[in-house]
Amino acid sequence: MATTEQNTHDQTDVSIMNWGTDAPRGGKAVMGRILKENATVPLFFGQTMIQSLRDVGYNHTTSALCEHVDNAIQAGATQIRVYLRQTGKKGNYQTDAAVYDNGCGMAPAVLRVATSFGGSTTFGNRSGIGRFGMGMKTAALSMSPVMDLYSWQERGAIYNMTLDVDAIGKERSNSVELPEPTLLTELPDEVADLFKKPMIFPTDRNEQELLAPGNDRLEECLGPSGTIVYMPQCDRLTYAKANTLVDHAVKEMARVYRRALGARLVLFVNNRRVAPVDPTYSMPNARHARLEGLAVTQSRLITSKQVAVRVAEKSEETAPITIKLYRLPIEEWSSLPRKTQRNDLKIFDDNTVSILRNDREVFAGTMTWLTTRHSVTHWYRVQIDFPGVLDEAFGVAANKQGVRLKGYVEDAIKDAIGEEITTINDEIKRFQAQQASRREPAKPSASEAKAAAVDPFQHHPLGVPPTPEEEAQLDQNLRGLALTLKRDGETDEQAFERVKNSTYIIGFKHDEYWPFYDVKHRFGRVILTINTAHPFYEELYDPVRKMSLQAGGDVDDVAAPRGDTQPGPILALDLLLLSLARTQSRLAGNNQDGRGLLDVLRREWSETYRVQLTA
Ligand SMILES: Nc1ncnc2c1ncn2[C@@H]1O[C@H](COP(=O)(O)OP(=O)(O)OP(=O)(O)O)[C@@H](O)[C@H]1O
Ligand SMILES: [Mg+2]
Repeated sequence: MATTEQNTHDQTDVSIMNWGTDAPRGGKAVMGRILKENATVPLFFGQTMIQSLRDVGYNHTTSALCEHVDNAIQAGATQIRVYLRQTGKKGNYQTDAAVYDNGCGMAPAVLRVATSFGGSTTFGNRSGIGRFGMGMKTAALSMSPVMDLYSWQERGAIYNMTLDVDAIGKERSNSVELPEPTLLTELPDEVADLFKKPMIFPTDRNEQELLAPGNDRLEECLGPSGTIVYMPQCDRLTYAKANTLVDHAVKEMARVYRRALGARLVLFVNNRRVAPVDPTYSMPNARHARLEGLAVTQSRLITSKQVAVRVAEKSEETAPITIKLYRLPIEEWSSLPRKTQRNDLKIFDDNTVSILRNDREVFAGTMTWLTTRHSVTHWYRVQIDFPGVLDEAFGVAANKQGVRLKGYVEDAIKDAIGEEITTINDEIKRFQAQQASRREPAKPSASEAKAAAVDPFQHHPLGVPPTPEEEAQLDQNLRGLALTLKRDGETDEQAFERVKNSTYIIGFKHDEYWPFYDVKHRFGRVILTINTAHPFYEELYDPVRKMSLQAGGDVDDVAAPRGDTQPGPILALDLLLLSLARTQSRLAGNNQDGRGLLDVLRREWSETYRVQLTA
């Protein structure tokens, strides 16, 4: 290039450098000197790169902390402790973070290499968690301007390395080099205190299980080998308060590391033990299984499939992924209190899909493209396990936050289980509809009663009222009818009494191939049947029903049986349908043609409406 050509001959005017006021001074001096003297250029300008790498972009303080937990697990740790130590007063909190583990530790030479960017003992190895040589450094610096490392492979011989962004920014040598690790016989007080003194959160000290309570025996408690990553005076945290940070870390780590936690890993966050949380409810020893009063603790495995996925779109090479589809025990769990469903089981947390890479979760959330229907429930789960060789196919970034699946991978997964997800959800919806359409036994609903009560005010009578003799003959017929209209929890006699005393009766049925309602006029009774399988039910009837229940102060979801108070919209909607049913019954009468026409109207209207709602 012409400019480079020129520069090799001329000396550049360093005034072209227009650096920010906070830019590292050493870096500026080095770059100025190199420009001026036309000296050798290092691949990385350490003074500036280290500052830029602070912004690699972790979604959350928790995901940055996970990098250290990843490393600890990879180092074979059986105990890991995460600390978020808050000091100072409100408005002026100071937080130090640290991760301790009792893994294999690092020999001094390894420690030194590991401190360097790109320095890794498992670089490019896809079988474990680490493969980029970046995690520890970028994660630590994303929280604090200092990464302080302590690692030992024998008691009392602790090696220390420090990366200090400000100090490096001041360096004036062209290529920044890392010093030898320092050998210490004991930890500095501020680090040692992490293990000896309780954190301010959790507030209840009894909840905190310290590694080395009191002052003595710290060396012993730390174990024969291990590592501490200390991040003092964090200046970039997702939340200011330790309790919020701790709660988030616990919630996420419990799920992300559930396999390790279910095996032999012991993990503490601020001295409180983290129990594994399984969004698929398939682990027998996950936290939800310990809830009191759960008759069924596990979801049901519906299908487990191995699918060969190409490592790249055009590649011949494939690797297997395992897809498991689970169905939650809705029959048992739908009747639990809403609080238990929401807060303890976390059924509605939207973690329907969980993706794990080498046993560590990299994604939890919803994936709407997975299903062949437009709407799904919260009562199924998908778990996908993939090996590290498929990182590119699954779109795993260096900071291991989330996935970005390639199109052909999405297609492969959808082909494997899309239909089955739809089938399960239909089954669940049918169950929910059944529950929702349950009516109070032995008495008419408010809408049935209202329609009957105001019948005398209708312009056209419904039919000729039967004589007492006819009524008596009818009894036999009504007993037969009552059997078909019997509600859950009703005796034959109660059903008979109810039907006998009702002019209007609403029933429910679930049939994919049926119009959204049906009307029968039998023995002077107008019988309206609502089809819970038609989208009318899911899109309109059920939402209105729930809305009305909530307005009536009953926020318990689908499983709540209808009480006899039906405020506002659901009463009006029931009456809309009952008035239609009445009109249809009256017009059809004994008129064969009229009945045929009304039937065609009903079917065509239903189908048109179905297409409009779903296509
Ligand atoms: N807790 C630890 N115990 C023992 N060795 C560790 C620990 N943490 C890091 N190391 C060493 O430091 C190296 C660098 O860690 P770093 O997280 O930066 O990169 P990585 O784990 O190799 O790759 P990735 O960027 O994918 O995390 C690791 O390869 C490992 O050798
Ligand atoms: Mg790592």
